[in-house]
Amino acid sequence: MSNRTKDITLDIVEAVRDVLRRHEVTFDEYRAGFQHLAKTQGAGEIPLLIDVFFNSTIVEIENEKRRGSHACIQGPYFVQNAPNVAETLAIRDQDAGHPKMVMRGKVTGLNGQPVAGAVIDVWHATPDGKYSGIHDNIPPQYYRGKITTAADGSYECRSILPVPYQIPNAGPTGELLETYMQWHSWRPAHIHYWIHADGMRDLISQAYFEGDQYIDDDCCNGGGSEFMVPEVYEGDVRVMEVNFTLDPRAEAGSEKAA
Ligand SMILES: [Fe+2]
Repeated sequence: MSNRTKDITLDIVEAVRDVLRRHEVTFDEYRAGFQHLAKTQGAGEIPLLIDVFFNSTIVEIENEKRRGSHACIQGPYFVQNAPNVAETLAIRDQDAGHPKMVMRGKVTGLNGQPVAGAVIDVWHATPDGKYSGIHDNIPPQYYRGKITTAADGSYECRSILPVPYQIPNAGPTGELLETYMQWHSWRPAHIHYWIHADGMRDLISQAYFEGDQYIDDDCCNGGGSEFMVPEVYEGDVRVMEVNFTLDPRAEAGSEKAA
């Protein structure tokens, strides 16, 4: 075991002991706590539990090493090998009447130079808060795709508006959030981005809709205030203009953003 692993583990143990002492936790409460953890393990929700509370903190630490745009949590619903798209993401026939949006902006480097040929993986929820390729057997081509930036670094692609959604809340993690913490399991509506470009550090980010529900009360502490997009419309189409500044790869401390 490295010294770093040892040091961090000892600090975690001591931090938990401090909490137990401060709250004068009883033996019954202690047993109830670890029984809930065992239930979480039994339900296969340990990754969900850890991500809900701590993923955003790792992103914060990573962002200290970035000079360009900040990263956000990736979330669990990215799917590899999404289709290449040009003008629009694939929209299900049943969602055709849903409010529309256009995602556009520019990808540049730290000096403002355009990044041509950057590939932007975008993915977002359906109007009923699900992800294709993950939930309800929705075919994976919907509401996700790879957009490539033009020579001037610009990109533009259309889709429909995503909505706020609940993270899985039927199991012990939801019980912890909703019953024991008297909180909730909702995330504000958002668009996910993962930008890859030659010579640049990958960026995993999210954009949010100014004025949306749960913006200030995100159960995952998504921390996306850098890309809080104002409410602007072209006709009846919400404009989601998001410009990304990429760090060069050479400056990366790690290639894993979230
Ligand atoms: Fe999401």
